[in-house]
Amino acid sequence: MQINRIPTGIKELDELLEGGYPLQQGILISGPPGSGKSILATHFLHMSCLAGKKCMLMLTHVNVESYLEQARSIGIDFQTCIDKGTLLITKSFETRSNKIYNAARHGAGIGFLEKDIVQNVQDIPDDVDVVVIDNLDMLSLYHSTEEFADKFFTINDILFGKKCTSLFLMGQEENGMKHTIAQHISFGNIELYMDRETGTGRGIRQMYIPKMRCTYISLEPLNYKITKQGIKIERIFQRDEIIKDALKSVL
Ligand SMILES: Nc1ncnc2c1ncn2[C@@H]1O[C@H](COP(=O)(O)OP(=O)(O)OP(=O)(O)O)[C@@H](O)[C@H]1O
Ligand SMILES: [Mg+2]
Repeated sequence: MQINRIPTGIKELDELLEGGYPLQQGILISGPPGSGKSILATHFLHMSCLAGKKCMLMLTHVNVESYLEQARSIGIDFQTCIDKGTLLITKSFETRSNKIYNAARHGAGIGFLEKDIVQNVQDIPDDVDVVVIDNLDMLSLYHSTEEFADKFFTINDILFGKKCTSLFLMGQEENGMKHTIAQHISFGNIELYMDRETGTGRGIRQMYIPKMRCTYISLEPLNYKITKQGIKIERIFQRDEIIKDALKSVL
């Protein structure tokens, strides 16, 4: 049975994902700092706003202005979407820095501050269609593996109940356990990498899709660049090539 999809905002990625991200599911976007997680999410938010969806961006570690600045630098101006109310941005960063400042003044630890992320997700208005959490690193940093698993499961479950299509952005920590848990819980996962080519030493960016339920994935890494127009995927498969591949694997 075909499932419904929502465009990612990147044409080549839509072609690979049979039309886009699976609708009303949670997708994990992981990768190291600077790999393009926020930009990938920016394309999705912009496309969704233009399609008239109500979107919410929860920023946990950058301030709103510097997020909007980078969006403008790749040709995406969210001002109209914000003015029309199609894009809501929660100022988690500013709130958090104020709380950290106050907690530090009273000598308190700051781990407790992250505990309200589940509540923040619970408070998302019911008419929101698309949610981006940028990012989950602080949740991961301040919780044990078990607590992280419980909270992430709950966040994913609340958003599923609210029928939101969600992107969860996450770095990869050293032992990778919390990342693996997040991969298990999410409906799909896109990993972004930065590497150096042996021989030339040239830096390359690669995108890898290890998991996307209800979707054929080739497991072939894709090269991409980040340009003034955002993410450009360089290597793409034609649909018929993918179908041929898929048939080969079942015959
Ligand atoms: N206008 C632009 N033109 C070209 N490249 C850009 C432009 N804006 C950003 N980039 C590239 O994108 C990178 C930042 O991407 P992004 O902010 O999405 O990374 P991230 O994975 O979210 O990182 P972090 O984990 O630090 O939040 C920059 O380091 C730069 O290489
Ligand atoms: Mg980012």
